[in-house]
Amino acid sequence: MPNLRLARRVGRIQPSATLALTAKAKALKAEGKDIVALTAGEPDFETPMAIRQAAIDALQKGGVVGRYTPVAGMPDVIKAVADKFRRDNGLEYKPEQILLSCGAKHSIFNAIGALVDDGDEVIVPAPHWVSYPEMIRFFGGTPVVVDTSKTGFVLTAQQLKAAITPRTRLLIVNSPGNPTGAVWSGPAQQEIAAALQGTDIAVISDEIYEKLVYDGAHVSFAGLSADAYARTITVNGVAKAYAMTGWRIGYSAGPVAVIKAMNALQSHSTSNPATVAQIATLKALAQDPQELPSWRKQYAARRDRMVSGLNAAKGAKCACPGGAFYVFPDFSAWIGKRHGETLIKDDSTLCEVLLQNALVGGVPGSEFGAPGFVRFSYAASDTEITKAIERLQKFASELS
Ligand SMILES: Cc1ncc(COP(=O)(O)O)c(C=O)c1O
Repeated sequence: MPNLRLARRVGRIQPSATLALTAKAKALKAEGKDIVALTAGEPDFETPMAIRQAAIDALQKGGVVGRYTPVAGMPDVIKAVADKFRRDNGLEYKPEQILLSCGAKHSIFNAIGALVDDGDEVIVPAPHWVSYPEMIRFFGGTPVVVDTSKTGFVLTAQQLKAAITPRTRLLIVNSPGNPTGAVWSGPAQQEIAAALQGTDIAVISDEIYEKLVYDGAHVSFAGLSADAYARTITVNGVAKAYAMTGWRIGYSAGPVAVIKAMNALQSHSTSNPATVAQIATLKALAQDPQELPSWRKQYAARRDRMVSGLNAAKGAKCACPGGAFYVFPDFSAWIGKRHGETLIKDDSTLCEVLLQNALVGGVPGSEFGAPGFVRFSYAASDTEITKAIERLQKFASELS
């Protein structure tokens, strides 16, 4: 038998915990267990019909839909992205500053690949999306994780300055954020932008939850100042805003040299994202679907129910997030307690026990750099949310 050696770079990364837990919850469901899976970061709504129809029409017409497009995407779709940035964010980007990719995850992968060398440091405010540190490590960089759990899940200029070293290449900004749902205000982002002035640090501003803001307003980092614009790669996509997770379209915009490098990387991996998905994106970006305001209202109502339901569970503390579709309760008071015979020694055990005994799926906070917390997605039906709250409150009352 040949001894197939794996590359060291893959040894540095872990598979996505969120996807693994989602699969586990699904498997238990398939076995007939009445699981409420609040694990996935995925809208529970259908992609709007008008968007699906644009894809259906293109498929029926044939021709370009079955062909490659330029690596960066079809010129019409690039223009639609530029129009979106101008309309929604007041940002001006030329076509050569824009790249479409196979999901925002791919956009971020390309951006980190284009910017991070062996030994470079990247500042990642925690709690953070699971993939940032893994991608950074894959490309040989070191994630410098900065805890924001004591500052309202917002990075302060002071924390940022303390984390910067001569090796710092990049800062990740993610507002509204996954897993916290925190929305960073304009002044908070201004403080960060000011602290970066005079440095050569790039910023990836991951704005994938932009359309899901319930309190406050979305702020694009690149729009803060000319200096911020010149150092920022703005990333967004259709997955969360338009219930299009399966279509796999993300896009990035930024300095020409960085986008060009990202394009080169993509040209040797996926080439263009699927043409039919680009055509659907053209429809989605032309105008926000009419369903969006109603979705936002439903998400906000679910958030309120989750937050008050969790705060009514003994020992749980849950901040009210301004955006995205996650709540991120602090369950540290539950750690060290027992449920039946089982000792809850950490948030991973807690999620195991919650899934097996309370039949509620959540993702351990330690996966996001925040031990003691658990992420629940409230992109779920009202019935599921009611069940989850009841079960979590009952679970809390059974702890000893
Ligand atoms: C913060 C954040 N960025 C990026 C992504 C990736 O989105 P996409 O589905 O477009 O790849 C996600 C998805 O979970 C996310 O939560």
